[in-house]
Amino acid sequence: MRLLTLLLCIVSTVVCFVPPQTWENVVVSRAVDLSKSYVLEEYALQVRNIDSKPNGVYYFAVPNFMYEKISTVSVIQGKDAFKPLEYEFVEQSSDSANGPVVNYIKIQTPPVAPKSTLLVTVVLTVTNVLEPLPAKIGITEQQSLLFSSFKKSLSAYHTKKSLLKLKGITEAKELNEADGIKGEATSKALVYEMEDISPFESSPLSLLYRHLKPLMKVNKLKRGIWVSHWGDSLQFVEEYQTTNEAAGLESGFSRADYMMNKEIVTSSHAALALELEMEDGAFDVYYTDLVGNVSTSLALSDKIFIRPRFPIYGGWHYNFTVGWTNKLGNYLKKVGDDEYTVKVPLLNGIPGTSLDDVEVSVYLPEGSQVVGVESDIPPESEEVGYELSYFDLGNGHTRVTLHYSNLIDSVKQLSILVKYKYGFREFMTKPLNVAKYVFIALLAYLALSKVDITLKAKK
Ligand SMILES: *[C@@H]1O[C@H](CO)[C@@H](O)[C@H](O)[C@H]1NC(C)=O
Ligand SMILES: *[C@@H]1O[C@H](CO)[C@@H](O)[C@H](O)[C@H]1NC(C)=O
Repeated sequence: MRLLTLLLCIVSTVVCFVPPQTWENVVVSRAVDLSKSYVLEEYALQVRNIDSKPNGVYYFAVPNFMYEKISTVSVIQGKDAFKPLEYEFVEQSSDSANGPVVNYIKIQTPPVAPKSTLLVTVVLTVTNVLEPLPAKIGITEQQSLLFSSFKKSLSAYHTKKSLLKLKGITEAKELNEADGIKGEATSKALVYEMEDISPFESSPLSLLYRHLKPLMKVNKLKRGIWVSHWGDSLQFVEEYQTTNEAAGLESGFSRADYMMNKEIVTSSHAALALELEMEDGAFDVYYTDLVGNVSTSLALSDKIFIRPRFPIYGGWHYNFTVGWTNKLGNYLKKVGDDEYTVKVPLLNGIPGTSLDDVEVSVYLPEGSQVVGVESDIPPESEEVGYELSYFDLGNGHTRVTLHYSNLIDSVKQLSILVKYKYGFREFMTKPLNVAKYVFIALLAYLALSKVDITLKAKK
């Protein structure tokens, strides 16, 4: 079906852009890691310039069904992470009824002489492509996931040799082997080797494999980071809305069933506990849900293991909040007179999960003025506002809110930097305000106790 529309698309070049045939893929080696709840794909491309002049632009084709689900992209020269290559997305117009069939990542390579080769590595993370099959199972049954993708490397250029290595799977089984291309199982992977593939030629892959882990997904994360110069602290508050996207329970939840099969359930599709990462040296850690403080958590200096009040089965939602505090020193830098930068990680998060919707707010001390905001990945929106909190007078804390969608946990290595002005006068405002309150409270107390005394005296 996909192959068919693809061919139609090539014929009607009005809708589809076909890059000039200036390259040949000598080897396309694609490794797919299926051990997490999102998919990590690494393409090592050995490409040869078959044009008569130097070439510096390579179009990397991505089938449309996958393009929409890409979370992160990195492109490097060779295997050297310190040689990133520039790229941009080239989206096809979706005039046709089915929309475009491939989109491109247009990669700027260094100039490659005719007949010379270059190694380029493209790493993609793709979310929302794994689904439990069957969608509902019994409490003690083992879960299988279906990975729908393609076998032959789909490229805009002719490919001499194509390797596909599927990793992080056990008991894998292909559902359609109609194309006669069989994978070879090694101890760690399922490997396919294919040769001489025409441009845009592809073949579908439907792979079923055991996955004895829940599929946690963060639907929404509201992450607040409070900067306090006065308290020398950086406070993190994370409000999570999560869903376990694993296989659901065939016949609903039965407590008796659960108690009887506790040991088996531990290694299956229900989430009994979650591991969350914090910042190194975190203290004052807490974990609450709708009901209140949850006592079943274990905090190490950079991790917290939380145990929800009930196991989270496939299709179930769970909302909770975790919070902790770090010393401000490692994050704050004074860069000028009354001018500071605070650099915070974009995420800490739950390892191996993807996040649909993320809102990060950095709360600066009252009276701060934002000079600039930098984010390692561009946010979808950015907004500066104010937030009133306890003891705030005037406008309240200055708030910078950044909004992202479709992230994965590994972007935690990236950061957000906020530069702001915060003068001596503003610095003193807060303690003065507090002092004022204390003074008023004291007066009130004295007044009350005087009344009290007089009342007593009257008796
Ligand atoms: C919440 O639970 C933790 C973990 O048992 C405990 O240390 C803490 O004192 C509790 N906090 C409150 C406010 O009850
Ligand atoms: C989680 O929070 C969202 C937003 O407030 C709410 O719509 C949803 O019902 C909550 N889910 C649960 C299981 O409490």
